[in-house]
Amino acid sequence: MDDCIQIIFKRVEKNTDHISLAIGFSVVLVFCLMMIPLEAKEEAIASKHWITEMETNTERFERIERYLRGFDQTMWEVGERYEKLYQALKDDNFDLALYHWAKIKVTIENGLMKRPARKMNAEAIFLSTTWPDVNSAFNSKNNTKAWKGFFKARSACMACHFAEKVSFINDQPMFYDSQLK
Ligand code: HEC
Repeated sequence: MDDCIQIIFKRVEKNTDHISLAIGFSVVLVFCLMMIPLEAKEEAIASKHWITEMETNTERFERIERYLRGFDQTMWEVGERYEKLYQALKDDNFDLALYHWAKIKVTIENGLMKRPARKMNAEAIFLSTTWPDVNSAFNSKNNTKAWKGFFKARSACMACHFAEKVSFINDQPMFYDSQLK
């Protein structure tokens, strides 16, 4: 718009003839008016307000829900922490192992909010007995017990993948590099 206003003023300076001034003015004005919707559209495309710009709360929550994804996002974090936990035990850092083990529980529980259909297997295979057993194994700060706990955890992860029909997940370095040698 600023460019248009400058063009209008330049035309005013140059033209002394009133008729050509009026024609020139109209042409530039029409051109400027045509630019307005274009500018508005550009602003909409470049907006960063992908939640607040929506008209209703339902639409806003739908966007958040979609963005927070499903169980894959949960498992991505669980996998990352599992590897860190494995390394923590190799380093005899039991506190770090306990830390990641606690976060894995929170992460899975939050994931079940998103995907309640996974709850039955998660509870039966992982949360009910495996999780507290493994926690006490790490808490013992005894090397042998802690490693026993880790392999119990690993088996539970893999068993749940099998039960949830995603056993191909088990066939990757995270699991085959962390098996009993
Ligand atoms: C409810 C049973 C269940 C438990 C318990 C479970 N998982 Fe999973 N995991 C799944 C499911 C289901 C998927 C596939 C998710 C999808 O398709 O959206 C998955 C996917 C994964 C993935 C792939 C994620 C990705 O998108 O890259 C990893 C890694 C993973 N799990 C690691 C683990 C580890 C490590 C543990 C144990 C600490 C564990 N899982 C425990 C059910 C489980």
